Amino acid sequence: MSRYIAPSILSADFNRLGKDIEMINKSEADYIHFDVMDGVFVPNISFGIPVIQHVNKIATKPLDVHLMIIDPDRFIEPFVKAGASIITVHYEACNHLHRTIQQIKSFGVKASVCLNPHTPVFLLEEVIADLDMVLLMSVNPGFGGQAFIENTYKKVRQLKALIDTNGANCLIEVDGGVNNKTGKLLFDAGADVLVAGSFIFNSDNPAETISKLKMV
Ligand code: DX5
Ligand code: ZN
Repeated sequence: MSRYIAPSILSADFNRLGKDIEMINKSEADYIHFDVMDGVFVPNISFGIPVIQHVNKIATKPLDVHLMIIDPDRFIEPFVKAGASIITVHYEACNHLHRTIQQIKSFGVKASVCLNPHTPVFLLEEVIADLDMVLLMSVNPGFGGQAFIENTYKKVRQLKALIDTNGANCLIEVDGGVNNKTGKLLFDAGADVLVAGSFIFNSDNPAETISKLKMV
């Protein structure tokens, strides 16, 4: 089991985004998480390709791009070209998920699928062996700073069992309401990667918060 931290820039200060990226570069974070929202799949619009292109010029950590958008097939190549190392699509947004996963991998980047809180883990059974990561939403997607959904711990354990049963080599990432309390229980349940936005960027010392979360 790994203990990786992926700060979500959704909660960063966009008036000084470069400074926040430099902080992440120097911190013990393992990824930079980008919550891309289209206002259709989720009831909010965040940011897109230009932000990732510019961050990619200064980032020293892999870019973990979470596409909360309908019909993500349209944007896989543009996000790869912008610098994405991991692309996460939503199970609920894909008509042909197996083909979408193959498309992501054809660009040589890591393929990840995200499940909303209402979507059961077993639906990934036929593709789990093809995935590099599964992202479990522990809030309903669209906004930072929401309350953690407690049922997520059970889903992490179910996903770990599905991965082990299928001999898959797949990270478990969790996104939403992550803090030092939920984070510890998530690592204990088998999560590998914790996405955190408000807990990190609303703290007095984000770099120190990242280090403490990693060792929670
Ligand atoms: C929801 C977003 C958030 C964000 C993390 O769509 O995906 O989960 O990454 O937000 P916090 O850590 O502030 O709950
Ligand atoms: Zn996310």
